[in-house]
Amino acid sequence: MSTTPETTAAEKKRGAFSSRRVFIFAAIGSAVGLGNIWRFPYTAYENGGGAFLLPYIIALLTAGIPFLYLVYGIGHRGRGSAPLSFARISRKTEWLGWWQVGICFVIAVYYAAIIAWALRYMIFSFNKSWGADPETFFGVDFLQGSDITQGLTLDFVAGLLVPLALVWLSVIVIMALGVQRGIGSTAVVFIPVLVIAFIGLVGRSLFLPGAAEGLNTLFTPDWGALTDTGVWAAAYGQIFFSLSIGFGIMITYSSYVGRKTDMTGSGAVVGFANSGFELLCGIGVFAALGFIAQAQGVAVTEVAAGGIGLAFIAFPTIISEAPGGAVIGVLFFGSLILAGITSLVSILEVVISAIRDKFEMSRVGASMAVTIPATIVSVLFFSTTSALAVLDVADKFINNFGILLVAVVMMIVLAWGVRILPTFTDHLNVYGTVPLRMWWIVLMSVVTPVMLTFVLISEFVDTVKEPYGGYPDWLLYTFGWGLAAAVIGIGILASLMKWRPETPMTIPTSESAEEAQR
Ligand code: ALA
Repeated sequence: MSTTPETTAAEKKRGAFSSRRVFIFAAIGSAVGLGNIWRFPYTAYENGGGAFLLPYIIALLTAGIPFLYLVYGIGHRGRGSAPLSFARISRKTEWLGWWQVGICFVIAVYYAAIIAWALRYMIFSFNKSWGADPETFFGVDFLQGSDITQGLTLDFVAGLLVPLALVWLSVIVIMALGVQRGIGSTAVVFIPVLVIAFIGLVGRSLFLPGAAEGLNTLFTPDWGALTDTGVWAAAYGQIFFSLSIGFGIMITYSSYVGRKTDMTGSGAVVGFANSGFELLCGIGVFAALGFIAQAQGVAVTEVAAGGIGLAFIAFPTIISEAPGGAVIGVLFFGSLILAGITSLVSILEVVISAIRDKFEMSRVGASMAVTIPATIVSVLFFSTTSALAVLDVADKFINNFGILLVAVVMMIVLAWGVRILPTFTDHLNVYGTVPLRMWWIVLMSVVTPVMLTFVLISEFVDTVKEPYGGYPDWLLYTFGWGLAAAVIGIGILASLMKWRPETPMTIPTSESAEEAQR
């Protein structure tokens, strides 16, 4: 497949999307993930229902899309992985890129496990293997979870190991195939299938008895929630996780896009498509929860569960009770797998592109250097009896004190440290259809950092006051606080390594990139 004309031969060799369309598909593929399907519906319901949409939309417009433009500015202008693009701004900022590489490595190893569970549950849907008690089945029969208060036990569970190995195998192939043939092509095929599958699921759910009550529960606004700072924190957290910003993903992807691309228009498409899909997920999930509440004669509030409980406990119950449940199971778990894979490859690409740039490695070499250790770590922790507790703690801490924290630090360093925001507006405005003016600089240098700092402080205070999830301290200090701190330390150490002489620290123009190739 050819690349866009403004992509040089050297850039094509490094990796490039063949067109703006493929880039948009890949970016939507990254954004639409587990966060949309299982995180959004419950987060919205728990934080004011219909009223949550207000902080959510404000966070999308004032922080999500503007921050997307900031990272496009870094990657599209810098034409490198996250660490290289930062190093090309200033060597002093390179550590921010490595910090994101560390965050992505951690997220990738547990994200793969959730996709593997969905794979297994899709198969379980055919004969409803969970029987009459999906909760016990999930914790005891499927995960064979040990009592984490007694310490970490890493005994392998075959039923977790096999699907996890399959997920890693398929992801290794996609990563080795490269940016266009691997990541781009996967997104172009998976995303339309995902949308059709999810529309099918929503259609089915809306016609189940009790669906209207489910939607009422989700959308009935609790306006009082708007005065609760935690609700605003949840909205900002959701937008960052869901849009895949703060991970370094969008820096990496935008470095694979032709120079003459309308990045701001593309960002608006990605942002609205992701939020549109997220709303669809909310509707589909709560319609289904309404059904199960009615079938069991309880309030919707009693069956609404967040995260893992929603996917692996509430949905199996729905599948068992609804007519044609197996179809719902295949559509729901199939959607989780498709959405999950396109996000997982984007998370891994942050690490692979960084290693490739730093060590001037081949595509296949860098893919193996990253995915093989990732597979080992993933299998070691997430196909064993302590999987659920480790996953839950790592996920909570790396999201809040990884993604959100790095986003705030980035904005402060770029706006006030190296003062590069006006350069980004000039760069993005050349081909962009959404003109960036003073409003964008004010949002990125003052409004969003202030809001996010506030969110982080409130999260920090809450997490210190009440040990997360009631888990033992040693677990929170190692896989929670410890991991979040370790990725910062690794980021700083990695940034001390020298770049190879053949890697230019100045931003290559299309002419200089061609020259280097000869
Ligand atoms: N943006 C991805 C998700 O929503 C990471 O799951």
